[in-house]
Amino acid sequence: MELDLRDKVVIVTGAARGIGAQIAQRFAAEGAKVTAFDLAFPEADETGAAGAPGAGQSVEQVTCNVADPESVRAAVDQVAARHGGIDVLINNAGINVVGDVADVPWERWKTCFDVNVGGVFLMSQAVAEHMKQARSGRIINAASFAAIIPSVGSAAYAASKAAVVSLTRVHASELGPYGITVNAYAPGMVPTAMNGFAEMPQEQQDRLLDTLSLRRWESADDVANLLIFLASDQAAYITGTLHDVSGGKLATQIPAVAHGR
Ligand code: NAI
Repeated sequence: MELDLRDKVVIVTGAARGIGAQIAQRFAAEGAKVTAFDLAFPEADETGAAGAPGAGQSVEQVTCNVADPESVRAAVDQVAARHGGIDVLINNAGINVVGDVADVPWERWKTCFDVNVGGVFLMSQAVAEHMKQARSGRIINAASFAAIIPSVGSAAYAASKAAVVSLTRVHASELGPYGITVNAYAPGMVPTAMNGFAEMPQEQQDRLLDTLSLRRWESADDVANLLIFLASDQAAYITGTLHDVSGGKLATQIPAVAHGR
């Protein structure tokens, strides 16, 4: 089965580092015309974001705050004008806010929702206008396993990601008449600067790994593999869904038993 993404115009938000940077590189390697949106970009030679060796296309960079309506509108219109439309939007940008309900300051709660939910809303609203004209498109939203089973201390983050799932389902129905699909995905544990999993003491890492049926950290490529499929023509009949790409996190109550632990 060929997943042909050659010359598709793709926007990946939050793509200066972490999972988003790798998603952008993987779509570029598939031959897509990728634009990375982020608040700021480090030097290209530090991240490789300007074009990985051997990649099909280089990744363009546009500075954009997904939580700011004017910034979003300007950045999206710039991409649409340059490429004549937008085929795929990956709403990857997100922030983590940690703290018990008793402790999270109201401003932090609001910022979490502004970026994680507001960012998906604003980007989807702006991009959908262009997709409707083409009567085709793919919008793919980063939720999280926290939207399926939240953890203690994740009230703001988990609630925001659950909101992304609801937004995804509503938008999928609204855009169905235009042949545009809208889906969400739930990664489990990809070690990045956001969570510092790989730098934790081994005992703490083991406790987290023991929740996974596959018992290894997830890679950004594990996420990108799903997104490349969801963005392809082969996924044309999949919409309004949340895809669990967590390595079987808590698929059973104690998955570590199968690993002899
Ligand atoms: P990260 O913190 O490494 O990267 C996030 C990127 O988003 C950064 O480049 C940051 O500058 C950008 N960003 C933040 N606010 C922005 C804004 N207002 N406008 C534009 N860009 C902005 O995070 P990571 O780990 O790569 O996560 C990416 C996405 O995947 C997030 O939505 C996260 O919630 C989700 N996710 C990550 C998991 C993990 O294990 N790393 C697990 C489940 C979900």
